[in-house]
Amino acid sequence: MMDAVYFEQHGGPEVLRYGPRPTPRPAPDQVLIEAHAVGVNPRDWMLRQGTYVGRPLVGRLPIIPGSDVSGVVAEVGEKVQGFTVGDEVFAMQSQLGHMGGYAQYMAVKASCVALKPKEISHVAAAAVPVAGLTAWQSLFGIARIGPGDKVVVVGASGGVGHYAVQLAHHAGAHVTAVCSTANADFVRGLGADEVIDYTTQQFTDVVSGQDLVFDTLGKESLDSCRDVLKRDGLYITTVPDLGTIARWAQTSLRSRILGGQRASVITVKARGNELSELADLMVHGHLRSVVDSVYPLTDAAEAHRKSRTFRTRGKLVLQVRD
Ligand SMILES: NC(=O)c1ccc[n+]([C@@H]2O[C@H](COP(=O)([O-])OP(=O)(O)OC[C@H]3O[C@@H](n4cnc5c(N)ncnc54)[C@H](OP(=O)(O)O)[C@@H]3O)[C@@H](O)[C@H]2O)c1
Repeated sequence: MMDAVYFEQHGGPEVLRYGPRPTPRPAPDQVLIEAHAVGVNPRDWMLRQGTYVGRPLVGRLPIIPGSDVSGVVAEVGEKVQGFTVGDEVFAMQSQLGHMGGYAQYMAVKASCVALKPKEISHVAAAAVPVAGLTAWQSLFGIARIGPGDKVVVVGASGGVGHYAVQLAHHAGAHVTAVCSTANADFVRGLGADEVIDYTTQQFTDVVSGQDLVFDTLGKESLDSCRDVLKRDGLYITTVPDLGTIARWAQTSLRSRILGGQRASVITVKARGNELSELADLMVHGHLRSVVDSVYPLTDAAEAHRKSRTFRTRGKLVLQVRD
């Protein structure tokens, strides 16, 4: 048995329990990771509440939430190559997995795992997977941004946003960050060329000629960003509503034939090879995890309360062991 945070019914932070749960066994294509630190994402409390869009993929109650882990390989499935017991690694639980991050051990497909360079702490590595991959896959997988592109990041100071600002800056893009007054200097320090304080100005009123609006919070839509984007500009959201999904289907087809502005939706994929690319950028000083707060695993409920406010600067992390 291992210690874990889990819930047996959906509800508020008070439904989280800390106690013994069966230690997972790695399948032939999985590694078992002994966790040192685990990342917190809004999906964790959404899952706890029963409102997470991916809920049907997560399996039955009781559920251990958490997708992001950094730790040490404790066991390796018989078909796994490239990892051995004792390796320091970080990983994102696969989309169809059972989450399972808020625990001493997590079993995860080897394809979703990357070696953790020594220069990166477990806390910094655990912060990366969901948020870092969401930013990476949006900017480079969907939008394919490059030098000179003009990019707006909405929610620039949050988990996804703070990685997106750094990645877009490193790619040579001109970055306009949208955040509140208190975070303006913070996002400038991450590489933003311009900052729009949403408490005093609507970026949709003052920004134009952009290749990409990356909306990490689902605050806008393709329609609200029409005047912000170039004629063939792209709007990507992390939080799709039915209107955006309809626009996505409609504009993808039309833009393939006629060109024009498009909407898209990111659904993050757990990919170890992309985690390795992010780690490489971190080692070379081009990317860093900003960790707002670290809580002991036993204080997961407090971390959920904080995440639920959407006032986090960077990431929240749970420390499982030193
Ligand atoms: N589709 C996917 O695959 C996927 C993947 C990852 C995340 N997501 C979703 O993406 C969303 C963001 O995730 P996250 O981890 O980045 O959240 P987060 O870290 O909790 O975001 C907090 C940030 O949001 C900013 N913020 C709040 N209201 C804002 C506003 N009106 N305008 C601009 N910024 C605002 C806050 O900055 P200020 O204090 O400056 O306002 C804070 O820094 C969540 O809903 C999450 O579930 C989806």
